[in-house]
Parts: sequence; structure tokens; C-alpha cells
Amino acid sequence: MEKHRVLFVFGTRPEAIKLAPLIHQMRKEVEFDVRVCSTAQHREMTDQVVRFFGLPVDYDLDLMRPGQSLPSLTARLFSALAPVLADVTPDLLIVQGDTTTAFAAAMSGFYSRARIAHIEAGLRSHNKFAPFPEEVNRTLISHLADFHFAPTAQAERNLREEGIKENVWVVGNTVIDALFLALDLLERNEHVWVREELLSLDFSKRILLVTAHRRENLGGPLREICLAVQDIVGAFPDVEVVFPVHPNPRVQEVVQKMLGGVRRVHLLPPLTYPEFVWIMRRSYLILTDSGGVQEEAPALGKPVLVMREVTERQEGIEAGVARLVGTDRGRIFRETASLLTNPEAYAAMAHAENPYGNGDSCAKIIGVLKQVFSGKT
Ligand code: UD1
Ligand code: UDP
Repeated sequence: MEKHRVLFVFGTRPEAIKLAPLIHQMRKEVEFDVRVCSTAQHREMTDQVVRFFGLPVDYDLDLMRPGQSLPSLTARLFSALAPVLADVTPDLLIVQGDTTTAFAAAMSGFYSRARIAHIEAGLRSHNKFAPFPEEVNRTLISHLADFHFAPTAQAERNLREEGIKENVWVVGNTVIDALFLALDLLERNEHVWVREELLSLDFSKRILLVTAHRRENLGGPLREICLAVQDIVGAFPDVEVVFPVHPNPRVQEVVQKMLGGVRRVHLLPPLTYPEFVWIMRRSYLILTDSGGVQEEAPALGKPVLVMREVTERQEGIEAGVARLVGTDRGRIFRETASLLTNPEAYAAMAHAENPYGNGDSCAKIIGVLKQVFSGKT
């Protein structure tokens, strides 16, 4: 039996996390010959995901450079992806999300006339500069892709409004499949996966988990976020802040300078995926500008304050588990203080909801792809 050649391309931490369960499940299907390419747009942060999930990487393009600019990264991606596509000649190229790797891979796939599947299609903030450049990356991928796997009905509607009506399936988000895998492994042996520094935190205090890295938040907004964190630990002696700091030099400089040495603020290197899931579960509240964390927190019933002006993930907000608070120091402090002092306000947000899927997204995607290849779609 002739197998269908499927090429996965990922480059950053969130793409690797969200594609890991799909890669594993597709490798179990006899009709697919699965190849995996990591562009290594992220080096250490993608490698930790590759190690945790045991992903078989056939091509490692090793593209990350410290402090890389978008044009230079994009140029390196185009140059390095062309030979991979020529080598594999995939029947299907699979990309995920909205990163520069995902965009460049989809464009490269189009140049080589490969059919393209887009996982996590249709999210829109409707603001071209937020998230930047991800909103435009994701929109462009939709216009290059042949098969669109939308996580929610809202995402499907967004695609429809842009005239993309064929070959769109609502399947949930594979981030929930990955989350369930990690929870399962942690349940069996957390000591294997979680570093001592985390295990020995003072859990009699309330843990506030903070992450920030978006390009549009670099500079002034990130400084506001750090000032808000200073205000929060100053006003609430029973709060410990855990802040895994993104390795981007423009994040490191500001965060280390403003929060290094501040009492009850733990600045950590990026955590491994199981560690991050572990600490999310033990957190009282999460403050973040991340996309993926906005999807995971509702599944864990953890209130999230989203430090952005707009979000392409409205479902968590509508479910009442997430709240958009922007990046103003005073507003972040007030919203956090309200949840720390008002048990009713907290309880209203702290309920588990799964607007982004039930952990069966990969099975649904594979079901669709089998139909596509058997000619039934
Ligand atoms: C990228 C994605 C963003 C995603 C984020 C996930 C784009 C345009 N942006 O942004 O959508 O939310 O990844 O974290 O694709 N670095 C390291 N080691 C690493 C990773 C990064 O040192 O393992 C440093 C490097 O100096 C690198 C810088 O971080 O140049 C920025 O990385 P880059 O991938 O360009 O942008 P992110 O902000 O991480
Ligand atoms: N994450 C992680 N370690 C950390 C912080 C986050 O493994 O120290 C995981 C998190 O669980 C989520 C993903 O990384 O699945 C989100 O990545 P990020 O915030 O970098 O990117 P975004 O989702 O904003 O594109």
C-alpha cells in the first residue's frame, strides 16, 4: 500500500506542544508516512518539548539567532525550507498557528504546490498589529491552506467572513490533547518531571503565575506589567509570584532589572512543559499575554487576567474564566487585587470550562484527513 507522505513543520514552543499529540497519533496510522521538520526558530524552548514528548525530528534547521529580527528570520526560513520540501515532496504539509515558522512553511508549501493543512485556523483579533505579526501570519496562512482545522465555532465564522467556506472543520484545539497527556504523566510521577526549585515553593501562600513576551508588549507595556507585579507583592504579603522569563533579550533585560531581587518574586528560566502545567494547577491566579495559556487555564479552572488590549481568543472571556485587562499598571493591580480580596469575584471566574476542546482534537483531525485521502471529501 502506497503511504501518504505528511510533513509537519514547527519551530516554536507552542507549535511543538500543540502538534506533538497529532504527530504521535498520525505515526500510528499505517496509511501515513510522517516526517517532522523543526526550524528551531526557538532553540532551547522547542528542544524541551521535543524531549518531553519524544518527537522524532527528521530535519533540524537550527535557525534561531539571538535577538533575531522578523525579516532575517523569515529570509532564513524560506531558504532553509525549500530543500526540505524538495526532499520530502509531501502529499500534505501540516502547519500550526500563527508564528513566522508557520507562515513561511505555508508559503513555501504553496511554492512547491503541496497541499496544506492549517491546525488552529480562524482565530482573529481583527487588529493587524495585535498580536503582531501573528494576526497577519494567521490570516495569510488561511489564504494559502487547503484544509482548515478551526478550534471553535467562532473561528469557523471568522473564516466564513473571509470567504473561506470549503474544507473547514471545527475540531477543538490540540492544546487540550497535549494538556491531558501532560496531566496524566504528572499524576503518575511528578518528581520525575518537576524541578526541586518548584516543588519547594511556599504553597501556604497564594501563587500568582506570570508570563509576558508579546512583541507589542515589549518596552513600555512590559515595564507597566513589572510595576504592577511590584505593587501586588507590596500590597499582598500572602502572595508569591512565579515568573518564568522568556529568553528574548528584550524581555530579559526589563524583567531582570525591574523584578530581580524583589521579595516573593521568583524569576525562573522558561519551564519545561510538564513543569508549567504543574505550576498552573497550583496557581491561584494567572497573569499572561500568552495565547496558549489562555486556552489551558480555562480547562484547569484557573482565572486568567490577559495582559493585552485585544485577544483573538474570545471564548475564554465569554466563558467568564478569562478577563482582558490591558497593560496599564493601575488596571492590572486593581483587577488582581479584586480577585485576591473578593472571594465571590474569584469564585465567579474559577470554574473549569473547555471552550477549546475535550482532548479529542487529534482523533477528529485524523478522521478528516483519512476521508480526504480516500477521496470522500
Ligand atoms: C515567537 C512567535 C510568537 C509566539 C512565541 C512563543 C513569531 C513572530 N512569534 O515569538 O507568536 O508567541 O514565539 O514563545 O513567530 N530565544 C532564545 N531561546 C529560545 C527561544 C527564543 O534564546 O528557545 C530568544 C532569542 O534571542 C530569539 C528571541 O528569543 O531571537 C525571540 O524569539 P522569536 O521566535 O523571534 O520571537 P518570540 O517572541 O519568541
Ligand atoms: N509554557 C511552557 N513553559 C513556560 C511557559 C509556557 O512550557 O515557562 C507553555 C504553556 O503551557 C503553553 C505554551 O508554552 O502551552 C505557550 O507558549 P507561549 O506563551 O510562549 O506562546 P503563545 O501561546 O503565546 O504563542
